Amino acid sequence: MEEIIIRRYKKIDRPFVREIAWDTAFIGKPADVFFEDKDILMDFLTQYFTDYEPQSCFIAESNNLVMGYLIGAKGVSLLKDIFQFKIFPKLLIKVIKRGTLFRKKNIIFIFNCFLSFLRREFQMPDFNTAYPAILHINIRANFRNLNAGSRLIAAYLNYLSQEKIPGVHLATMSDEAGEFFRKQGFIPLHKGKRSYFRYILQKDLPLYIYGKKLQ
Ligand SMILES: CC(C)(COP(=O)(O)OP(=O)(O)OC[C@H]1O[C@@H](n2cnc3c(N)ncnc32)[C@H](O)[C@@H]1OP(=O)(O)O)[C@@H](O)C(=O)NCCC(=O)NCCS
Repeated sequence: MEEIIIRRYKKIDRPFVREIAWDTAFIGKPADVFFEDKDILMDFLTQYFTDYEPQSCFIAESNNLVMGYLIGAKGVSLLKDIFQFKIFPKLLIKVIKRGTLFRKKNIIFIFNCFLSFLRREFQMPDFNTAYPAILHINIRANFRNLNAGSRLIAAYLNYLSQEKIPGVHLATMSDEAGEFFRKQGFIPLHKGKRSYFRYILQKDLPLYIYGKKLQ
């Protein structure tokens, strides 16, 4: 196994980040179980980070292969503003042009997200004051447990501390990932549930928020 390098994100990494994000979007497995249109889902999940705040993103590389990433944002409020006013309007036009909303798989998924919304599952306490930064981390399945994840977290936390950010939080639906974050010094802040995959899994998933203070 070649040495694993942790480095800053570069523009050239963008397709690899999107590919890994797609391959792990369904609780660590590929998104094609619930969605059809890779480009749209990846814009939705990763565009803010790669295109508007690339300086807060880090890459784990081995033998010139991107094996994982951490995409972050220093402040959720800026992320929300840019998403709402810049990303979402363009995404809506793209969705209409590509007919994404007319595909059966997507209609079913969006309908189930709407049901989750009606059940108030997206309502959460506000963590943005004490823990303004967020992160998403994903390692390719065959490169897990090699310390790449913990080294990406260390690089990001070091960067946030230098930027004088007081805290960071994240959401995960995986019990196993919770164990990983606890080992990185994160504490559980909130537990909720998500029912929008019930039509595939026949069960609800937990939603955990973890946080870590930095100053
Ligand atoms: C969770 C994830 C980022 C961890 O990265 P990784 O490179 O595999 O983890 P590391 O090798 O750095 O592990 C660090 C420590 O966490 C533990 N750990 C890692 N993954 C774990 C898991 N799934 N269950 C329990 N412990 C785990 C390791 O055993 C290790 O413990 P140690 O320090 O006592 O030896 C990676 O497995 C992943 O991408 N999973 C799928 C997607 C996901 O769940 N993302 C997080 C949600 S945002």
